[in-house]
Amino acid sequence: MRESDKEERYPFAAYEKIMDRVCEILEGVPGHKLLDVGIGTGKLARKLMANGYSVTGVDFSQNMLNEAAQANPDAVLITWDFSKGLPDFIKTHDYSAVLCNYAIHHLTPCEKKVLISDMAKCLDPEGIIVIGDVMTETLEEMNYAMGKDADLWDEDEYYIVVDEFREQMSEYHMEFEKFSYCSGVLVMEPPKK
Ligand SMILES: C[S@@+](CC[C@H](N)C(=O)[O-])C[C@H]1O[C@@H](n2cnc3c(N)ncnc32)[C@H](O)[C@@H]1O
Repeated sequence: MRESDKEERYPFAAYEKIMDRVCEILEGVPGHKLLDVGIGTGKLARKLMANGYSVTGVDFSQNMLNEAAQANPDAVLITWDFSKGLPDFIKTHDYSAVLCNYAIHHLTPCEKKVLISDMAKCLDPEGIIVIGDVMTETLEEMNYAMGKDADLWDEDEYYIVVDEFREQMSEYHMEFEKFSYCSGVLVMEPPKK
């Protein structure tokens, strides 16, 4: 377990609980084809594949992908920088869900919008997007976390404030679950066509 999770501090406060919740949500989704954006070493993918899911993973770090490949020999792994959205060949509208755990904070708000819209193009009609990350419902909560952890705060990352995200992406239905003062899980349903 990561130190900052053990100590319930930014940035990884409740990281393990969030991973478990992301898995639980995905296991409730019909279908077995998942896309993991920012797959890293594939820890989540390993849990999901053990339960019969097929996983396609995207990451720009070859080192991460090498580890993910070792842990998940059956995963399809794609080297790609998701700050420019997702590759056309995976926008197939047949993934049951797209997950993005502790990775979307690397993108600016504009890049996030492009990525989310591309994620929606990967999904089947019932599909959902599941995001676990440093994230708060309100700006007040984000400011509280930033003040509490001023000594650790990473100014180069862009965390989702769900209230703002709801305004920016009002066509999506969103449900947020808080797991700590600075982190949670957001489930997004794209607009039905
Ligand atoms: C903190 S790790 C999280 C990994 C994994 N999802 C997890 O929950 O353990 C963030 C991952 O996002 C990847 N990443 C960050 N920015 C990226 C980008 N623009 N394009 C592709 N991958 C990126 C990093 O290489 C890293 O593997």
